Amino acid sequence: MSASPLLNALEQHLALGRVPMHMPGHKGIASPLDRMGDLLRLDTTEIPDTDSLYEAAGPIAEAMERASALYKTKRTLFSAGGCSLCIQTMLRLAVPQGGKIVAGRTIHRSAVNAMALLDITPVWVLPRPDAGDGLPGRIYPQDIEAALTENPDACAVYVTTPDYYGVLCDLKGISAVCRAHGVPLLVDNAHGAHLKFAAPGAHPLERGASITCDSAHKTLPVMTGGAWLHIAEDAYCAEAPSAMALFGSTSPSYPIMVSLDLCRAWLEEEGTAAFSRLKEQVEDVRRHALALGMTLPQGEWDPVRITIGTGPLGLTGHTAAELLRQQGVEPEYADGLHVVLIPSPFNPEKDYVRLKNALSALPGCRTPLPKAGTVTALPKVAASPRQALLAPGERIAIDDSVGRIAAEASCPCPPGVPVVAPGEIIDQEAAKILKSYGICEIKVIK
Ligand SMILES: Cc1ncc(COP(=O)(O)O)c(C=O)c1O
Repeated sequence: MSASPLLNALEQHLALGRVPMHMPGHKGIASPLDRMGDLLRLDTTEIPDTDSLYEAAGPIAEAMERASALYKTKRTLFSAGGCSLCIQTMLRLAVPQGGKIVAGRTIHRSAVNAMALLDITPVWVLPRPDAGDGLPGRIYPQDIEAALTENPDACAVYVTTPDYYGVLCDLKGISAVCRAHGVPLLVDNAHGAHLKFAAPGAHPLERGASITCDSAHKTLPVMTGGAWLHIAEDAYCAEAPSAMALFGSTSPSYPIMVSLDLCRAWLEEEGTAAFSRLKEQVEDVRRHALALGMTLPQGEWDPVRITIGTGPLGLTGHTAAELLRQQGVEPEYADGLHVVLIPSPFNPEKDYVRLKNALSALPGCRTPLPKAGTVTALPKVAASPRQALLAPGERIAIDDSVGRIAAEASCPCPPGVPVVAPGEIIDQEAAKILKSYGICEIKVIK
């Protein structure tokens, strides 16, 4: 039989036996998914006995109702296309005819692309860098208020919280502003599916979101691609399945949907206890990192995320991540100043012992790294995101890009603050920041 390079690569990686401090939350061993047994048996299609996601009226409808009851929503839909599909769906629901949206600039590319496809024009609100050096920071209610006042024709507000680093915005404040202006609040909660259990009261549904989405597979025992779209207002319930069907595959994966349902059952029974144990384990690692001279984000952040600033040790996040790998720990992500680790209740105790030992083994050259450059101003706009994304484009070197119009979002950290978004003119400052993050090429309009 011909070789499968992908299967071989996965098997070789697994044979290394590294501590998985990355997604998915099931860590390959989560007991709530044991009931699935042989996945191929469950990999079926829409036949009368198995229901159909976008026209659910049988077991899928019942499973989604149970998820809705757990999260106390008006309606919850399963997504087998990740949070990306939920983001497309919520934008379609809230801004169906295109138009303006006030959007926090800390944003995932699926949202930028969906806005372009739906002819939605973002009015950007920059985060204030209040979480620490090199972190995007938080979107402030006052800044949303100012943007809505200046743009009374905006149809909705869109924010991402928590961000990749686990940093949380003042969502209660933002939702109060949205209510006062009579616009819905859409929240990308890809990284916070577990917040209801890890930090009761901190899930966007508990802080006033109109529609939000959870990338359940990131932090919970759910197969990759499993996410929930949660709707808190009646007005969006009826259209939600057809809005999702506009973008989603007509063959959503049954194993993924089953894993969402099994996770819901596990959360009902064990979620709170499992996450309070995890919080203690994470707190212990954080204390250890602080004692070794590393930094943590400031202000409110996810109590079960481990984001470690390695700059004070004189190590870039990339170097620290590579050293952790050599010590048998596989991180989720690294940037110039941080390593991000995503633990879950399914990391056994020994994983934390290995992690702490690996952190202790990081060398510190004791010459702290210089502070990171941040995006403080928005570039000029020359075209709508839709025009820019759909226009013929070419990929060019950043060195040649000043004065050209970006045809894609370019971001130092994939779900971070884009230095330029589609339709914006790349200026000297943007080119300099992109190069400082090691980004050498960008797609521009021809
Ligand atoms: C902030 C944010 N939003 C949305 C997504 C997309 O989620 P998914 O991979 O479930 O489609 C991601 C993925 O990393 C993300 O980090």
